Order: sequence, then structure tokens, then C-alpha cells
Amino acid sequence: MTTTFPEGFLWGSATAAHQVEGGNVNNDHWEMEHAEHSPFREPSGDACDSFHRWPEDLDLVAGAGLNAYRFSLEWSRIEPEEGEVSRAGLDHYRRIVDGCRDRGLTPVVTLVHFTMPRWLVHDGGWTGAKTGDRIARYTETVLPVLADAEYVATLNEPNLMAAQPVMGAMAMRGEEITGLPRPDQEVAEALLGLHARSMEVLRGNVRNAGMTLVGREHIAEEGGEQLMQAERAAFEDQFLEAARGDDFVGLQVYTAARFGPDGLVAPAPEVQTLAHGMERRPQALGAAVSRAAEVLPGMPLFVTENGIATADDDDRIRFTTDALTSLAAAIAGGADVRGYLHWSLLDNFEWMLGYLPTFGLVAVDRQTFTRTPKPSLAWLGEVARRNGLA
Ligand code: NOJ
Repeated sequence: MTTTFPEGFLWGSATAAHQVEGGNVNNDHWEMEHAEHSPFREPSGDACDSFHRWPEDLDLVAGAGLNAYRFSLEWSRIEPEEGEVSRAGLDHYRRIVDGCRDRGLTPVVTLVHFTMPRWLVHDGGWTGAKTGDRIARYTETVLPVLADAEYVATLNEPNLMAAQPVMGAMAMRGEEITGLPRPDQEVAEALLGLHARSMEVLRGNVRNAGMTLVGREHIAEEGGEQLMQAERAAFEDQFLEAARGDDFVGLQVYTAARFGPDGLVAPAPEVQTLAHGMERRPQALGAAVSRAAEVLPGMPLFVTENGIATADDDDRIRFTTDALTSLAAAIAGGADVRGYLHWSLLDNFEWMLGYLPTFGLVAVDRQTFTRTPKPSLAWLGEVARRNGLA
């Protein structure tokens, strides 16, 4: 039996500036990576050198038969000092958008994928009083880059960003992070305010604008129902509600969160993946998409990330097959899903875990940056050409 997807469905892969570009010396993460007692396993350094090798990256995506590519703009390259715009920085990203179009790839662009310029972190950061004006100005500055983008996401995973300071503190204390802690409410509200400011500038000026959120399958184990609902409201519902009226919502789904009466239940070691001790649960994709469609009926949804960190590429294919099967079922159930972007094109810098987890469809030699496609890249390209699973 074949599983087909809606006509015009977008198939691609995703990256983020700091995780692939290299040399992002002017942002907050670089600073954290080099701090004493840094929770980062290693610094990002040259990453995948995609700042220079992006044409090769786009060739890989298009060559495989995919038709979409998601990447992010690095604010610290565009506005290295407050109010000083780098023309070369803007040109660089404009060339990537054009490079996508030249190759028949639909560009999906994220404005903020976790990182911020150093000047901003030292003057208020995400919760600073002036940050709303600053993100509005940054959005205005990058409008010329976005003219030919198809989808524009303001913030990447604000629901995770709001939980991140908590995670950073836990890691500093050497505590094991087995799940995603609840977002800090003040940070959550600040980030949603920034999203709103950025949206005001984007509306009417780009084709489709919205934000991307971590979606997960929420599972209540015995006695965990109440806690699960409270966590889901804090981590997911308030963000979905804030997206009401936007042009689309991006969902990024990796795993499930299980709740017992006393909190998160850690997955058994045999079902954990290489990254963040996540439970291997491909069907979480369909579950999270269906739930988002339930909260926001009729809202266009886009799977802007889904994938697995594994050294076993056959398992990546199995995982993705099962995830896509669950996605097809969610679509059959009424969810309006516009596309699927696999995380990630390349094995890249996985934040605090450094280069250890490998999410890529393409391996990257850490010395030479040589790209070696894994069988999963050709496999996903086939799925795209067929617009479905065999
Ligand atoms: C979501 C984030 O957007 C991305 O930066 C990260 O690498 C993946 N999750 C995998 O953890």
C-alpha cells in the first residue's frame, strides 16, 4: 500500500546558522561555549563551514530530489553592533535564498534560531525592555532578504527557549537532564511578545509568517493525568494559542514526554536515542500534529523539524518511515500539513552535546568538512519524488 501526501506537499531538510556555519564568534552561544565551567561539551568552532559551503549543501538537497530547504539568519552577522547593519551579511543570506530558488528549492527562513548578538545579551537579552523594538528593527532590516522566501519563522522553539535557562542551570550543576523542564513563565511571555513584534513587521510583507514550536506527544502514565495536562498547557497550549491568527505554525517533533504522579518519567535506556536521552517514539509526530490541529482547527501546519540522532542510518530510515506514516494518518484525520523538513541535512553542532549526536542525512568530516551523503538522503529524496511512502 502506498501512503500519499497532499498535492504540492513540500519535502526538505533543515539547518540552523550557528549549528552549521562556523565562526559565529559574535553571539551569545559562542560566549557560553567558551565560558569557564561551560555546560557545552565542546565549542562550535568551524561547525560544518556552511558559511562558505552552502552552495554544496543546496546542491545536495536539490540533487537528492527534495524541494525545500530551511535555514536561519544569524542576527549577529547582520547587526554585529547595535544599529550597525552589515551589508555583506544581508547579501550573504540573500544569495542563499536566490540559491534555493535557482535550484527549485522552496526557501523556509528562520529569523532567530536560539542565538542572539553579544551586544543584546549584555543589554537585556530576550527579556530586556528594549528587545521588542530591536527585534522589530532587525525584522525590518532583513525584509529584502525575505522577499522570495516562502515561509518565514520568527522565533525557533520559544517554548524550548523559555525552558533553556533552566536546563543550562541544571547542566552547570552537573544534573542529568532527562526531559524538558517547564518553561519559565516570564521568559515565555517575553518571547511571545517578541514574536508578536516581529509578526507586525512581517505581515503583508512576506508570503507566510509564523513561529516554530516544539511539539511532543504527551503521555499520562497511571496517576499522571493531571500533571500531564498542566505541563502540556504550559509547554504547548499557551504557545499554540498565541499563534492563532498567524499564517502558519511550524512543529518540531522528536519524542514523547511521559508523566507519572511525581513528574516526568525517564524513558527506559533501551529506547533512548543518542541525543538528550530522548525516547525513540516516531509516532509522536502524528500525535503532536493531530493535537495542534485540535487546538487550532484549520491552521496551516508545517513540520519544520523531525528526525533522530543515531549512528545507525538504517534506523533513521525506519524511524522516519514510521514518523511519516503517523503524519499521513494525522493528515487523513483533518490536519492541514503543508510540508515535512527533516532535521537535519548535516551532522552538525548539537548545542550542549557538541558534535556527538548525529542527526544528519549527510555526514561531515570534522577535519576536512567533506560531505558524505548517507543512504537516508537518497531514500528521503525518493519519498519526495513519489510524494509518498512506497
Ligand atoms: C530542535 C532545534 O531547533 C535544533 O536546533 C536541534 O538541533 C534539534 N531540535 C535537535 O535537538
